[in-house]
Amino acid sequence: MAYGLLKGKRGIITGALDEKSIAWKIALKAKEEGATFTLSNAPLAMRMGAIKQLAEQCEAEIIPADATSVEDIENLYTKSIDVLGGKIDFVLHSIGMSPNIRKNRPYGDMNYEWYQKSLDISALSFHKMMQTAEKLDALNEWASVVGLSYIAAQRTFAFYTDMADAKAMLESIARGYGYRFGKLKNVRVNTVSQSPTVTTAGSGIGGFDVFYEYAQLMSPLGNATADDCANYVITLFSDLTRMVTMQNLFHDGGFSSVGVSEDLAMKLMQAHQQEQQ
Ligand SMILES: NC(=O)c1ccc[n+]([C@@H]2O[C@H](COP(=O)([O-])OP(=O)(O)OC[C@H]3O[C@@H](n4cnc5c(N)ncnc54)[C@H](O)[C@@H]3O)[C@@H](O)[C@H]2O)c1
Repeated sequence: MAYGLLKGKRGIITGALDEKSIAWKIALKAKEEGATFTLSNAPLAMRMGAIKQLAEQCEAEIIPADATSVEDIENLYTKSIDVLGGKIDFVLHSIGMSPNIRKNRPYGDMNYEWYQKSLDISALSFHKMMQTAEKLDALNEWASVVGLSYIAAQRTFAFYTDMADAKAMLESIARGYGYRFGKLKNVRVNTVSQSPTVTTAGSGIGGFDVFYEYAQLMSPLGNATADDCANYVITLFSDLTRMVTMQNLFHDGGFSSVGVSEDLAMKLMQAHQQEQQ
């Protein structure tokens, strides 16, 4: 059911790679709620082509941008303002990639060039998107900027390696720029810390199935899906959440507040009993 929450709003949505992407679901919801927006992804991802299908569905223009390039980001804002006919009301940063994770490098054997790439793509790009918006004065008063994070920013999750550091930085940037943008233009900046979700980036993490099942057993509401995440992010783009800023908002079915759940305890007890038989 649509509520017209984003009627008349103009946005930029990054990171929709294929229909599993969290950004893909957010784009579909934003369209449903009445927004107009541009879609952006790295030129390499563009070549895979799936984003064209989304663009048609959403009647959105695609503007390629490597999120590590300030020049590309400048072009993204300038073209978006041109195509959409005015300044921007919401920005989604849904970008993450770690070459170290892709190549299975353990935390004690990081390739530092790749480490810097992970930070640049997954965290610094968030700062670049906001600093560029500020310099170009590309955002409207009360605009909303959202980045996607993961609880490995607060607690150590084996195999999440340098992405955990990138997420901690991402959340810190949301506070730093949230303060600045709040004072400057009443713009709010938040991160949403999402449950493990089956996507290209998600499933690329070693042991993802275990993360997923563990979180499922621990969370009283179960894991939040990408569709659930889209609904939540839409509320953050809407005028209903104008005073929420500089927050890392857990969207995880309750996972972050549970020590141990009955479901997990039962599973461990069963395994223990089987071992003794
Ligand atoms: N899937 C999960 O379990 C999960 C959980 C919590 C948070 N997140 C976060 O959600 C966000 C979206 O990821 P997803 O799970 O939808 O996976 P996804 O693979 O669909 O999206 C990641 C996107 O980042 C883009 N990207 C990579 N390098 C880029 C660059 N240099 N410039 C521009 N774009 C680039 C990719 O093309 C892709 O579209 C990421 O920040 C991810 O860390 C994912």
